This record gives sequence, C-alpha cells and structure tokens, in this order.
Amino acid sequence: MTTEVLSVDGGIEKAKKILLLGGIVGMPTETVYGLAADGTNPDAVKKIFEVKGRPIDNPLIAHIHKDFDINTLVYVKNDYVYKLIDAFMPGPLTLVMESKGVVCKEAVAGGDTLAVRMPSHAGCQALLRAVNRPLVAPSANLSKHTSPVSAEHVFHDLNGKIPLILDGGRCSGGIESTVLDVTGSVPRILRAGLITKEMVESIVGACEIAQHKEGDKVKSPGVKYRHYRPKCDTALFDITETDKANALYDRELANGRTPYIMCSDELAEKFAGKNLLLLGRSGEEIAFNLYDKLLEGEKKADIIIAVSFGRCDGVYLGIMNRLSKSCG
Ligand code: TXA
Ligand code: MG
Repeated sequence: MTTEVLSVDGGIEKAKKILLLGGIVGMPTETVYGLAADGTNPDAVKKIFEVKGRPIDNPLIAHIHKDFDINTLVYVKNDYVYKLIDAFMPGPLTLVMESKGVVCKEAVAGGDTLAVRMPSHAGCQALLRAVNRPLVAPSANLSKHTSPVSAEHVFHDLNGKIPLILDGGRCSGGIESTVLDVTGSVPRILRAGLITKEMVESIVGACEIAQHKEGDKVKSPGVKYRHYRPKCDTALFDITETDKANALYDRELANGRTPYIMCSDELAEKFAGKNLLLLGRSGEEIAFNLYDKLLEGEKKADIIIAVSFGRCDGVYLGIMNRLSKSCG
C-alpha cells in the first residue's frame, strides 16, 4: 500500500470516503496526530489495533465535532461535566463516562465506559464534521514508540500501512490530552496533560489524581504499558544531578558514542559545549517540544540523556509522566 500525504484542507473528501468505507486515516489534532477509524464499525476499529500493534485491552478515545451531541454516546451523570465541557471543550481534555454502546465494544476493549474528546484543531474539526460519526483514534505511532506531532512523524511510523495521512501542520499542544474519569462525584485524572488538575479544580472545586499501584485493577489501561520510547538509548536524571548527567555524557563520548543532553533552556549553561536538545523555558514550550526533540534525538544520538525540571505542578505533571516513560 502506498501512503498518500495530503493537506488537511485538500484531503477531507478523500479521507471521508476512506473512513466511511471502513478504512483508517492519519489525522492532525492539537495534541498529537491520531490514527482514525469509524468508531461504529468493528472491522475498521480492528485495523487500528493491527496496524499499531496495540494490545487489544487498551481502549480508544472517540473524537467528535463541536456540535455533535455527546449525550448520544454516553450517559452524563454529573452536572459538573457540563461545566467542564463549557470551559475546556473543544480542547485537550478527554472525558470518560458510561458508554451507550454506539461506539463498538472493540474500540473500548469490551468495557462499559467510553472516553470522548472534542479536538480544537480546525482541520480535525472539519474532518469530524464531514464524517459526522465518532472517530476513534489512538496516537498515530507504532505501539510504544514516541507519539507523532507532525505528518512526517506519522509517515515515518506508518508509511505503507495506511492509505492516507492528512497534514495539518505541527501540533500546537505536543503531549496527549488529559484523560479525566467523570463517572464519580469528584473528577479523577487518569492521564495528566495540558488541562491541569489546577484548571479542573478551578471549575469543579475538586479534582483527584488516580494512583496506579501494583496489583490494582487498572482504570486507564494505557498507563500500564511502556510508552513513548525513542529508538535510541536513554537516561533520565533529576535536576539536582547535572554532574552525573555530565559524567555519563563524557563516558559515552569516550566510548565513541554520540550522546545528546535533553533539558530546559535554563540548564543549557550547565552543559556548555555539549550536544543539546533544548526544550524551551515554560511548561507549555516544553510540552510543545518534548516529542519533537525525542524524535529528532533518536535520529542523531546513540543516547539521549534527559534532565528533569525540578517541578511536578500544572502541566509539568503530564510532562514528567511522559519523560519518565520515554527516558526513565
Ligand atoms: O490527545 C490525545 O488524547 C490523542 C489524540 C490523537 O486525540 N489520543 C491518544 O490516544 O493519546 P491513545 O490511544 O494513545 O491514548 C488513550 C488513553 C490510553 O491511556 C487509554 O488507556 C485511555 O486513554 N482510555 C481510553 N479509553 C478509556 C476508558 N474508557 N477508560 C479509561 N481510560 C481510557
Ligand atoms: Mg498513545
């Protein structure tokens, strides 16, 4: 199969045709690129799991356009859900609720709940509106690899495996949506992202963070898998361990290997003269650059030596979750 890459504006009719015939398509969103299928078509959904090599017990997120009635897909049991929808949707927030079964059981790994998200990317909205069905989509990478934030990244992983990628430019967010369980009286973060605990609290008054302990029945199956790994070696140091990071860098260099340090701009001077993958200054910049720099790094480095940021609040919670899974 040859994989065509079309601009999202020029490719929507073609993508619609493929999707309605049960095919799968790479699509942009504001977080990361997704691999989309008609969520009401079990055969189409199975293709996603096959192409990605994704474990079948890991459910998919259903993507809908702005005017799609969420009540047709899920039971909205708590009033605070509508406040969250008003505040953050469209945007990088995914809500988990009890499914009405419109999206097929293959997409939700046979579970009772469905994760729903309304992307803000204009091209993605236009595609969702054209198809007017819930499109289920995981990130458009091979399972366990780093998530793609450009059409080129999707092409790299899925060339020859899917018929079409819609190119909607570089994703503005850079890490995946916040997954929020809203089935209970207090919302619970299953996967941290750009919509932070603090932001949810400002709307609802309270927000918990799910703790995934060994032996627990996993609420968001994706979190139990190794994820986001670049293809080169990796190491992760705390912000207090820049000496250790420097020492490892020097050892790698002495062994004839090509190391790169990945850190925030603030730390650059601690690694003067070394190969650097700089992530930026603010949490938003770091989220925007993280996967792009990991994917750049795997091409030129034998080892990426990442250094953390000294904080876990706000968007840093999601960033640290991704960084420890990709480099830790
Ligand atoms: O930003 C995003 O969310 C991107 C773009 C493409 O929309 N999508 C994405 O999908 O990251 P994926 O499949 O790579 O990650 C979905 C996460 C997984 O951790 C999965 O376990 C969790 O959401 N999830 C999906 N459905 C769920 C459900 N019903 N209950 C609990 N967790 C669920
Ligand atoms: Mg993923």
